[in-house]
Amino acid sequence: MSFETKDFRQTLSRFATGVVVVTTHWQGHAYGMTVNSFTSVSLDPPLVLFCASPRGHTPQAVRDAGIYGVSILAVDQLDLCKRLAGMTQVEEMDRFEGLPHTLSPGGVPWMDGCLGWLECRVEQVWEAGDHQVMLARVTQIRRGDDHDPLLFFHGQWPTIQRPAGGVG
Ligand SMILES: Cc1cc2nc3c(=O)[nH]c(=O)nc-3n(C[C@H](O)[C@H](O)[C@H](O)COP(=O)(O)O)c2cc1C
Repeated sequence: MSFETKDFRQTLSRFATGVVVVTTHWQGHAYGMTVNSFTSVSLDPPLVLFCASPRGHTPQAVRDAGIYGVSILAVDQLDLCKRLAGMTQVEEMDRFEGLPHTLSPGGVPWMDGCLGWLECRVEQVWEAGDHQVMLARVTQIRRGDDHDPLLFFHGQWPTIQRPAGGVG
């Protein structure tokens, strides 16, 4: 490798993304983690994926449950983003405690106040270096209110506004 991991990370941080929360429910416990590796893969069939460190509790629960929810974060949900990224003092297994959400038709948490929600059935999990790729088929969708999105860029959360007359 002709470069340092630190430089790789910093170069990737120049790629601006949205932020989602991936959730699941397994053996009576709700799990959630902040994710920016989420992407759409295919419209027909409807496929999406995210990449996860296999060490986390949420990816383990997603693999066990075979289903995950995606909640697309709005600009005013930075606290939720930080909490489910483990950036607060809240104990890992208590992170979901008291967070307002509803359940999707298939029973995964959809966080309140988001821009949109997906319910996804896991189709394939690939080992990919130090992460796993979680490919899933979208089984339910819902659109939320028209807020501005939460963005992640350069390790920060800059703001943009939803363009007037945009699609979707
Ligand atoms: C903006 C942002 C994006 C993140 N994206 C990912 C991601 O795509 N994949 C991942 O494994 N962790 C990602 N993380 C880190 C996880 O949210 C964090 O490790 C979390 O504690 C995992 O939760 P868990 O232990 O319940 O699995 C991200 C963190 C932040 C702040």
